[in-house]
Amino acid sequence: MGIDSALRSSGRLRLRARLAAATVAVAAMTGGAVIALAGSASAATTLRGAAEADGRYFGVAVGQGDLSNTSATNLAGSQFDMVTPENEMKWDTIEPSNGSYNFGPGDNIVNFATSHNERVRGHNLVWHSQTGAWVFQGPEGKPADRETLLARMRDHIQTVVGRYKGRIHGWDVVNEAIDEDGSLRKTPWRDGIGDDYVAKAFEFAREADPNAELYYNDYNLEKPEKRAGVIKLVNDLKARGLRIDGIGNQAHWRLETPTMDAIEQALVDLNSTGLKVMYTELDINLLPSAGRGVDPAVANPYANGLPDEKQQQLARRYADIFGLIVKHRTRVSRVTFWGLSDADSWLNRGRMNHPLLWDRQRQPKPAFHAVVDVLKRAR
Ligand code: G3I
Repeated sequence: MGIDSALRSSGRLRLRARLAAATVAVAAMTGGAVIALAGSASAATTLRGAAEADGRYFGVAVGQGDLSNTSATNLAGSQFDMVTPENEMKWDTIEPSNGSYNFGPGDNIVNFATSHNERVRGHNLVWHSQTGAWVFQGPEGKPADRETLLARMRDHIQTVVGRYKGRIHGWDVVNEAIDEDGSLRKTPWRDGIGDDYVAKAFEFAREADPNAELYYNDYNLEKPEKRAGVIKLVNDLKARGLRIDGIGNQAHWRLETPTMDAIEQALVDLNSTGLKVMYTELDINLLPSAGRGVDPAVANPYANGLPDEKQQQLARRYADIFGLIVKHRTRVSRVTFWGLSDADSWLNRGRMNHPLLWDRQRQPKPAFHAVVDVLKRAR
């Protein structure tokens, strides 16, 4: 048996050991409710089947471009029960200039979801990125003042949320407002309106659709100081009597970082706010951060495909993550993958990344089977 096959078999042995461990943990928790799944075993070969068996949602980010691709729509329509527009409902796309709205791309994604009996999560209403510069400009090129910015924010939220009223399950109202040290991030919104701009956004969103769930969404929440800042922010919104239903942890992770302990601690802490906790943009970046001029073989090591050992490592990482999600099933209400397949991932950026459960031919990877296995064994 050569080193590779030995590695492979040892990798698989380790994977089996982890799955068995995850199973035992889960069976202990669920009292081995295997029977429940018996009927829906076949259904559970899809993430959607596994999720629905557990009253949870598996979502995926889709872009307008995916809707004209059969293998993409087959995947989005069969494996998931919730979609998030990757860019189509962001301010720069949906209101490219003052008062002129471009609803086509967003409508297409909502119509796709509705026709596949899938929920939609709106992403996002207020963010410092992908927002046209005009939003923050006042007369004579001066920055827009508080009243002007509040009026633009309110008009935008009322128009966009109003358009999808009753068709969008929940909105990322504010995205990435907390800095790495836990303080409120310096953004044009904060500069123009002040620290209460987040509260105003939630107030306007509630006004526009009182029945939609409202979320705060951010990344690197495994960092204790940043997480503390997010918890302070959401508790402040609650103290102001504003509706907020959940915290979105984007979960843009790597193979080894953050550690499983850090992920678990973050989950427990965020859940202590009493709000729903969701993984909203899950993917596992396999590429080294590489600046300009780095040897392509180093910067883009998997340009010709992902070696089996890396496939197994990725499968183990996803198995661990879903083992934790199952362990804390009452704390995690939804998991969304940030892209359908490796072909669609934002993490490519001119390189070949392999961060998701389906490969460039949109065929399931070992990671997909590892996840379904953990979910199946959790019943
Ligand atoms: O639409 C233009 C197109 O007209 C132009 O030809 C093309 C070439 O430059 O660019 C297109 O815009 C790109 C847009 O995606 C739509 O594809 C932007 O350049 C590109 O920067 C933008 O990237 C998006 C990124 O947010 C921008 O910040 C990614 O697709 C999207 O996955 C990513 O998603 C964010 C979440 O919203 C928030 N959390 C982090 C996550 C990753 O950055």
